[in-house]
Amino acid sequence: MNGFDALYEKAKDRVQALSELPSSKEESIEEMLEDKGFERRDFMKWAAGITAMLALPAQFTPLFAEAAKLADRVPLVWLHMAECTGCSESLIRSDSPTIDSLIFDYVSIEYHETLMAAAGWQAEENLDNALEKYKGRYILLVEGGVPTANNGQYLTLGAHGKTGLSIVTAAAKDAAAIFSIGTCSSFGGIQAAAPNPTGAKGVDKVVSQPVINVPGCPPSETNIVGTLMHFLLFGTLPALDRYSRPKWAYGHRIHDLCERRGHFDAGEFVESFGDDGAKDGWCLYKQGCKGPYTFNNCSTERFNQGTSWPVQAGHGCMGCSEPDFWDTMGPLEKPIKSHLVMGLNSTVDKVGTVLLTATVVGIGAHAVASMFMNKKDEKEG
Ligand code: SF4
Ligand code: F3S
Repeated sequence: MNGFDALYEKAKDRVQALSELPSSKEESIEEMLEDKGFERRDFMKWAAGITAMLALPAQFTPLFAEAAKLADRVPLVWLHMAECTGCSESLIRSDSPTIDSLIFDYVSIEYHETLMAAAGWQAEENLDNALEKYKGRYILLVEGGVPTANNGQYLTLGAHGKTGLSIVTAAAKDAAAIFSIGTCSSFGGIQAAAPNPTGAKGVDKVVSQPVINVPGCPPSETNIVGTLMHFLLFGTLPALDRYSRPKWAYGHRIHDLCERRGHFDAGEFVESFGDDGAKDGWCLYKQGCKGPYTFNNCSTERFNQGTSWPVQAGHGCMGCSEPDFWDTMGPLEKPIKSHLVMGLNSTVDKVGTVLLTATVVGIGAHAVASMFMNKKDEKEG
């Protein structure tokens, strides 16, 4: 059997196994989508989009549609640690629901502090019950960094005052899969910015089980739902990069797929926000865009139901899906100073050899020449 056939058979077996689990919803996903005004062809188009986004052949489309129909069979536990809840908001605060957000609604959410009605003792009991009842089957999603200093005492939750550290390590123990949703749970986030007094860390630094990182501040709903759909269909981890991010989402640099890239290569830079270059959509590198050092699919998947992304809206990328971006990518609206002064070579320690190598390969000679020719105009350079 070749690789394609083996993968296809694996997905088919997984769909069959899901179909044998008890349903947790009264209505089917088709009925739910119809109620919200979606037709079957919208659903199939969505399944085709997920298939393409995950870089799988079109033959997988019907299997993704089947897996989505069975999404209610997979229990999900969502924990909040030290964070702002922006990642949950990115999923639930759309002005009109997308199929992505509706699929998320259709999953069996057993515990989510923002969405559930329960509070206090009852909430704690719900979590304990979910972890016991779905032992070995639930997907654990964590939003927020985990404070570890003083044995985790900087974050306590619930009526018993348990530490976030103890809650997340206990929940990780019997999870079928663990996803860190957002930069805080992936890498610690702003809580972990120097001097990091609470000792905040990413989830993968405090649990021994494998963790899939889905960073971003926030990550797009597409990246969250795509990661979930991959697990639904295959029941295994996707191919990951060196920071445990799914390669299908974080495998390309922002800079390489940016609509302003032609202007970068031509040496056409916005010199100040609001100037003629800004109005003409020129490159935002000199306004601090960190797209050359950032791996994410924002330019292709976009936010707010696919309408826009930071660079399209006129602000440079801040590098929000990279580890320690608060410390390594600042100041946010200026180029990384050492790159301009010392020739793109001095940040190895900060952003990593791999990123730097990719950056140097990707930056056109013309653009580099242009940046240095204009160096005398740089106030900060
Ligand atoms: Fe786009 Fe930023 Fe790269 Fe310019 S520097 S091409 S705005 S990603
Ligand atoms: Fe973040 Fe940059 Fe995308 S700031 S949202 S990785 S464009």
